[in-house]
Formats: sequence, C-alpha cells, structure tokens
Amino acid sequence: ENRAKQAMLSAHQLVGKLYHYVLTETPYGKEAMTYLSKRGLSPQTIADFQIGFAPDSWDFVTQFLQKRGFSLDQMVEAGLLVKSETGNIFDRFRGRIMFPIHDSQGNIIGFGGRLLETASASRQQAKQPKYLNSPESPLFNKSANLFNLHRARPFMRKRKQALLFEGYVDVVSAWQAGFHQGIATLGTALTEQQARIIRRNVEQVVLCYDGDAAGQEATAKAIHILQEAGLIVRVAPLPQGTDPDDYIRQHGPEAFSQQVLLQAMPVTAFRLKHLRASHVIQDETDQARFIEKALAIVIELNSPVERDLYLRQLAEEYSISLDTLKWEARRLYKQQK
Ligand code: UTP
Ligand code: MN
Ligand code: MN
Ligand code: MN
Ligand code: MN
Repeated sequence: ENRAKQAMLSAHQLVGKLYHYVLTETPYGKEAMTYLSKRGLSPQTIADFQIGFAPDSWDFVTQFLQKRGFSLDQMVEAGLLVKSETGNIFDRFRGRIMFPIHDSQGNIIGFGGRLLETASASRQQAKQPKYLNSPESPLFNKSANLFNLHRARPFMRKRKQALLFEGYVDVVSAWQAGFHQGIATLGTALTEQQARIIRRNVEQVVLCYDGDAAGQEATAKAIHILQEAGLIVRVAPLPQGTDPDDYIRQHGPEAFSQQVLLQAMPVTAFRLKHLRASHVIQDETDQARFIEKALAIVIELNSPVERDLYLRQLAEEYSISLDTLKWEARRLYKQQK
C-alpha cells in the first residue's frame, strides 16, 4: 500500500512537471499562456505555482505514464486517468490550465484544472464544468488539505493571520500582489478539519470570498466553522460582483490592502451590515422587527464590552434609548435559554 502511494506521488510530480513544460515551452501551451498573461499572471508567478496546461488530448498523459512503466489502473485510482465503463483508459484533464495542489510537505497530491475558454475550444468542452478537480484518492483528501498551505504557512505565521479565498486564482493573484498568506479550499465547502489546520498556524482569519450571493452564503457557513475551531474571524468587503482577483487587477495591490483587507469587519459588524442590506425599513413596525433581529445577533457575543459597544451603536443609529435596548436584549436572551 505504501509502495502504491509512492508511485502515485511520483506520478503526480512527473505529470506536474509535464503540464508546466507543455504550458511554458511548447506550442500546445501557447494559447493558454496568452490567456494567463492577459489575466495578468507573470511568468514568475506561473513558475512559482508551477501552473501548467493539459493538452486537449485523450491519451497524452496516458502514453507518458505508460512509457514510464506506471500501472494504468493505479493511475486511474490516483485520479490522473479515467476508466470508461467499457474499460478504456484515458486522460482525465484535457484542454485545461492546471493548478497543482500540494500537501503540507509540498508533494503534489492532486490538480485543479480550469477550462481554457477560447474560440478554438471544442464544442464538447462547452458543457464541461469550469473547474475540474482531482477526485478523492489515496493521496488526495479534499477535506484535510488547503491550496497553497505549504507555501503560505511561514507567511501566515509571521503575519499571525491567514487570508482564506474561494478560488485558486485568487490565491495566486494575491500572492503575485505581495500577499503571501493566502490559502483556499479545494472546490468544496470549508471543513472542521481544515479550520483546525488553520488554527494550528494562526489565530486570525480574514475571509475573502467572492462578492456575490454564493460567496456571502459560503462566508456565513465558514464563519461558524472557523469560530468553532477557536479562530478570530474578520470578513473582507468585496464589491458586489467582484472576486479578489478581479479587484486586484482593477485596483491594484495598494487598494486591496487599504480598501479590502484593512476594512475587514468583525463578524458581528458583518452580520449587522448584511441584515441592514436585506431589510427595507419603511415604518416603525419594520424598524422594530429589524432591531429585534439585530439584537439577536448582538446577544450572541460573549464579551459584555463588545455587546455594549454594539448596543450603543444601534441606540444611536435608530434613536432608541440605550436602556430600552438593553432591556429588550435581556428579554431576548432569556427567551432563547
Ligand atoms: P469561481 O467560479 O469563483 O472561480 O470558483 P474563480 O476562482 O473566480 O475562477 P476564474 O477567475 O473564473 O478563473 C471558485 C472555486 O470554486 C471551485 C474551484 O475550486 C474554484 O477555484 N469550483 C468552481 C469548482 O470546483 N468547480 C467549478 O465548476 C467552479
Ligand atoms: Mn513575492
Ligand atoms: Mn465564486
Ligand atoms: Mn471567483
Ligand atoms: Mn475569478
């Protein structure tokens, strides 16, 4: 079993190098290279992350592995190849930009493959998902690994903070802009195990998910999991419809630092902002209902000092006496118990 794992690891290492070589040194990678440079990724960044390209072929990697004596069935188990119902074995990744995914020691254990959207892409590709990730395998456990952790870890520790992104490209783009403490989940929701891994390295996480409905929803879920693991969480505000990579490209690293990361909000402030945005307040009835929901958020805070600060803000903002708010907060608190 150990020997099987060794073979899978060495296959991933070789195929990672092959994809990178195809992208950077061959005509097959030219279109992908142009696409990446249009997206603002430098040759240095492409080298740092060993980004690659899987050519649009059914047997490119299959042939490569076969020539080197790997068992093809084992490579199917490792997720590099796929076996059809009729027993044909072929390349899993075709016509995709490849992001190697490493374990915490820096071994490649899987790949995230992004579809290359071009005019010449075959019609078949049009129905494929944007990202195709390696499947779970003896090497690749999606809930126990994080993209870029092995590179980011020293920077996370130094800055005492992790930046958690939604996408591989966000991590890469932030890295290129000088933010090296960035990590991402592997195409699935954040798990408790991943939160514990983060907690072993830092106390604080800044959530930098996409500024869309899916990102907001994922943020709410991630907050809970991260807090349960004992992490202090802040939420970075991304403008509606943009993700960190978009933002950095449009506004630059300085703005990302000043307007996004430094504006990251404590969880309670984030929830209250979210609540405000989703409520139309037209009369006193609406307002009372809003205040009640806001109080429900505030009373979740363990620190009396923090609770008091938010209650004062609400009192001022909605011209309610602090005493009334406190009384109402206490009533709600008891009701919940
Ligand atoms: P996004 O759709 O936000 O992609 O998915 P992105 O990172 O902004 O990519 P670009 O900028 O369009 O290239 C975020 C993450 O969700 C997972 C991937 O891990 C991706 O990095 N995902 C997304 C999938 O696993 N499959 C998909 O089809 C799409
Ligand atoms: Mn650098
Ligand atoms: Mn997204
Ligand atoms: Mn995105
Ligand atoms: Mn993006």
